[in-house]
Amino acid sequence: MTRSSIPIPVPDGPHQVPSSSTSSLIELSLVLPTFNEARNIKTTLHTVHAILNSIPNLTYEIIVVDDNSPDLTWQLALDECSTLAEVRVMRRTTESGLATAVIRGWQAANGNILAVMDSDLQHPPEVLAQLVKAMRSGADLAAGSRHVEDGGVSDWSYVRRLISRTAQLIGLVLLPEVVGRIADPMSGYFMLKREAIAGKTLNPTGYKILIEVLARGSISRISEVGYVFCERKEGESKVSATIYLQYLQHLFRLRIGLLKESTFARFCLVGLSGVAVDMLLLFLLSDPSMLAWGLTRSKILSAEIAIGNNFLWNDSWTFASRVSPGSSMRSKFHRFVKFNSICLMGLIINLVLLNVMFNLLGMNRYLANGIAIGLTTFWNYFVNKHLGWRSSQ
Ligand code: GDD
Ligand code: MN
Repeated sequence: MTRSSIPIPVPDGPHQVPSSSTSSLIELSLVLPTFNEARNIKTTLHTVHAILNSIPNLTYEIIVVDDNSPDLTWQLALDECSTLAEVRVMRRTTESGLATAVIRGWQAANGNILAVMDSDLQHPPEVLAQLVKAMRSGADLAAGSRHVEDGGVSDWSYVRRLISRTAQLIGLVLLPEVVGRIADPMSGYFMLKREAIAGKTLNPTGYKILIEVLARGSISRISEVGYVFCERKEGESKVSATIYLQYLQHLFRLRIGLLKESTFARFCLVGLSGVAVDMLLLFLLSDPSMLAWGLTRSKILSAEIAIGNNFLWNDSWTFASRVSPGSSMRSKFHRFVKFNSICLMGLIINLVLLNVMFNLLGMNRYLANGIAIGLTTFWNYFVNKHLGWRSSQ
């Protein structure tokens, strides 16, 4: 393992963890972010080192990432490298913030498992052994949690508990599919498989690196280990009002990012453009003040053109990643025929549902139509996704 008496270089460029390191891989890389932790760093390093040494067959490294602390935390950490061979130190001068510090540390890491914990002893180091065990049993991510069995906070005021829970609730409303996956999404104490985030650009603001990782990583198996968040004995917390604002900004950014990537959201947007095309053409063709064609004839033509419009957008945007770049006109035409048939079946389903809800169940016609459109959209989306744009063709 690296014995470094000089700081490890700070990676630059995008916040992206490589899929494998250039050096030989070890099992675990634990990042300890620090800012003004001079009074804690030595004890933390020795305690963590002893605990990691006690885990059977574990190869590991501890990476301190310090943001050029005025109290010289980085220097104190470097001083420990001579006795603790597994410790490495990164001193950042051009970038700051907890979340980016963690990612920069992981970028320089050699481990297959990437981990993070606070360096102020508020995260009990004994839990590291349970987290490693969970990872060894096949978890993609193992998190220390205050909100599962054996978890808790030692001596928090009601106000602090309320703030923490409100922050979690806001996250749950804005990002249910991310924040709802874990009991303690605010945890800063967790491990994950390198491959879960390798090659993905992370872009966190502020403190909440776990939410970023859950949103952008490929993580299916999550394991949570209860722990009690201890009181700080030395030094001061860096949490301020700015951190809360950054948290909100982070949530919004993730929400927009995930929506932009969501093929379902795109499909719905394209569907709306189709409704506009259909309405406009129906007006131009059938309105007595325009061409005054018969309603059926006008509707068939306007619906078909709307379907064509939707196809072109879905083929070049919604499902673009499923279409191979050299795809021929012939295969494009095939996809169009499929899309058309699926949408036609969707229309039949829509009519059946509308009739059942309106005529048999006596539902309000507009409510019934709304529900029928919603259900048909799901049908159109899933069948097209799995049959129409199944794989690159
Ligand atoms: N490099 C770097 N840069 N480290 C930082 C920075 C920074 O800007 N800000 C804070 N840290 C380090 C601290 O030195 C400490 O080791 C750790 O990050 C946590 O910071 P605290 O200020 O002590 O945060 P906290 O105790 O209020 O909250 C922590 O615990 C929560 C509960 O698990 C955070 O880690 C949260 O992420 C966590 O959810
Ligand atoms: Mn703390």
